Order: sequence, then structure tokens, then C-alpha cells
Amino acid sequence: ITLDIIIVKDQEAGGKKAFELIKEGMEKDAKVLGLATGSTPISLYKEMTASDVDFSDMISINLDEYVGLSGEDTQSYRYFMNENLFNQKPFKEMYVPNGLADAETECKHYDDIIAANPVDIQILGIGGNAHIGFNEPGTPFDSTTHKVALTESTIEANTRFFDKAEDVPRFAYSMGIASIMAAKKIILIAYGEGKAEAIKATIEGKVTEEVPASILQNHKNVVIIMDESAAKLL
Ligand code: GLP
Repeated sequence: ITLDIIIVKDQEAGGKKAFELIKEGMEKDAKVLGLATGSTPISLYKEMTASDVDFSDMISINLDEYVGLSGEDTQSYRYFMNENLFNQKPFKEMYVPNGLADAETECKHYDDIIAANPVDIQILGIGGNAHIGFNEPGTPFDSTTHKVALTESTIEANTRFFDKAEDVPRFAYSMGIASIMAAKKIILIAYGEGKAEAIKATIEGKVTEEVPASILQNHKNVVIIMDESAAKLL
């Protein structure tokens, strides 16, 4: 197994470490960043926005978006990306799936975007059930961009961002596992005890579709950045 593990003190240190790896990649000509939402990458985006690095000739491709939300909706992942990164640091192109578009058209369109812009460095968070992007347990490893029915546990985990539980979208468009695995380098980030079991299963468990992130054991260039709490069961 070639998973490279880095344990950091806290989220701030994790953000700095992840940004160092991105800058190293950019020096070696990385042009396309795969980006993620959720609370995990926020400290990385803080480092990026506070830096003097220019991303305006780079391309970003986000993992996923809720179905039914427009980019202006404050709960959409497009809005999150604008707020946390793109407003301060625009890229040449900033792709996020269009949550209002028809499923078949949008998934095909997004796969075309990924094919035309192969991801150099993919940033990933991880769900408590080891989902990556919105690829829930059971998602085929050969999946490309697809429409996903979110699991109850993911909907529940996301309710903290919404006023009412019934406002949480039930579906999302997500890059598939195969799309994620096509990235040249993958940086998975995990903080907190809530991720400890997912991290253990991902790193030490068997590679199975029941643990989506376990597929990373088959990738040649993966770095996992985590804090002590996420690492505590290793
Ligand atoms: C959502 C996102 C994932 C993210 C996960 C964990 O389900 N689609 O990309 O990794 O939440 O979120 P957090 O980083 O807030 O723990």
C-alpha cells in the first residue's frame, strides 16, 4: 500500500500542509485542481486566499452539487466555493455541477469537462461512512458522474447547514469513484473523532464498495492528512 499518511496537530496545520502539497504540484505544472466542499477543506481555502499565489490560469473542478439548488442558493456548493475561495481567488474556469440541469445532460457534460481537463490534484474530505464526493457505500467503483440519492446519515450530517431538516436536498450530482481515481494525485483530509472509523476502514480495511474511500488503496499517489483524533483507531 502506498498511502502516505501525515498526522497534523489541528485543522490549521492540515490546511497549511495541504497547500504546501498543492504549491509543490503547481511548480511541477499542475493546472487542474479537483476541489471539495464541507467543513474539512475550509482551512486549506483560508491558506489559499491568504496567500499571494495566483490561480487565474488554473482550472478547478468540484466534486459535487445538490440537485435542485441554484448557484445563488446560499446552501449550494457553488455558493460555498464562491464564498470560501473563488471570490477572493478566481480560477480561469471554476466548474461545479449545475444542480438545476437535467440529470442525464449534466452528468454527461461533467464527464466531458473532466475528460478535457484531467485532474492533477484532487482534494477530498470523507464522510463518517467513508463516502467521497457524494459516493455513498455501495457505489460501483467504475462509476462516473451520476445522480445520487443521499443516505439518511448524510442528510442528517448536512442538516446542521440548513434551517429545517426537510430543506436538506435528497439528491446530488457527484463525480463518480472512477472519475476521482483518474486524478494524478489525491489528497484526502480528515479531522475529528467522527472520522476515525472511516479512516481506519479506508486505510486498514479491505477494498470494498461498502467503504468507498477504501479504493484509494489502489491509487499510486495518495496523501492522507489527518489530526490525532481521526487517526486514533489506526
Ligand atoms: C459532504 C460532501 C463531502 C464531504 C463530506 C464531509 O457529504 N459531499 O465531499 O467530504 O460531506 O463533510 P465535512 O468535511 O464537513 O466533515
